[in-house]
Amino acid sequence: MFSIKFKNSKLFFLDQTKLPQKEVWKECKNVREGFLAIKELKVRGAPLIGVFAAYCIAVYAKNLKLGKERFLGELKRAIMGLKLCRPTAVNLRWALSELEKVILQNSGKSIDAIRKALLDEAQKIYKQDIELCEKMADFGVKLIKSGDNILTHCNAGFLATAGEGTALSLIYKAQKIYKNIKVYADETRPLLQGARLTAWELTKRRINCTLICDNMAAYLMQKGKIDKIFVGADRIAANGDVANKIGTYSVAVAAKYHKVPFYVVAPFSTFDLSLSNGGQIPIEERDSCEVKTVLGKIDIAPKNVKVFNPAFDVTPSRLITAIVSDRGIIYPPYDKNIKKLLSKNI
Ligand code: MRU
Repeated sequence: MFSIKFKNSKLFFLDQTKLPQKEVWKECKNVREGFLAIKELKVRGAPLIGVFAAYCIAVYAKNLKLGKERFLGELKRAIMGLKLCRPTAVNLRWALSELEKVILQNSGKSIDAIRKALLDEAQKIYKQDIELCEKMADFGVKLIKSGDNILTHCNAGFLATAGEGTALSLIYKAQKIYKNIKVYADETRPLLQGARLTAWELTKRRINCTLICDNMAAYLMQKGKIDKIFVGADRIAANGDVANKIGTYSVAVAAKYHKVPFYVVAPFSTFDLSLSNGGQIPIEERDSCEVKTVLGKIDIAPKNVKVFNPAFDVTPSRLITAIVSDRGIIYPPYDKNIKKLLSKNI
């Protein structure tokens, strides 16, 4: 367990806002603390927020001392609140919807039976996420060659999932095989997930990692220093359009221009087939202070300047070479091939 722990019926999380300076573990005692941990990016990354939210509800149910009707009503309210916490990553809604199904299936049973069913489901989602990371790594590692120079954006590693990560899981696997993989990590303004988290993960794993500012990526591609790009995703529409951390789209545009393969890595829980295209994906907008300061600590702009701070952007599927999923590698035409692969029974 790298980023969350469930031990003796207690839920703990690694506060990612404190990295890389300090590794601080905190207990999440109730839904409000869980909501704030996700909202404030103490727990972040599309798959991880789904897993964490599922555990939050299980812990909440365990401590909720109410009669059956009010118990069920309160759980529904808590799930609804958590679903709204971050709007772009669909994994959060997916995991909480799985818990809603469990509540519905068990609503005729005792409160203790419902509590147990919720905890079982959270644990299932947690274990499944670890396996999904392994499967993505198994498929995706085939795209990597000895000595590859890889660029990544934001953080899609063990801090963003219950397992080894999405995009970074293949890099970890490739490094075990070839020992000579080189990774360029975009710093990822404004919240610096690349500098604080990806660079931390990669150095911890002794991978040859070079940190760059976001505006240096195209220059490196122009100089022929990037062989391929791997990023994660927060939501993928039915046509293969991908929402991921702000700045992903500009990396993909530069990659297309310089003919550098651009790969997205995501489990089935990141796909949202109810949306026909990426234009329908809700994009989270965050507080202006994230842009006007460095991590809330140093002012870098006039206090009264206007700010636009979308946390994600959408990369059109035509810029994406392939999507690595836990069920295999998906190539264009995405509208046909995504449906085909995701409808496979595994
Ligand atoms: O705002 P964040 O840090 O939660 O954004 C995370 C990303 O955009 C990741 O690239 C994405 O979730 C990758 S999935 C491991």
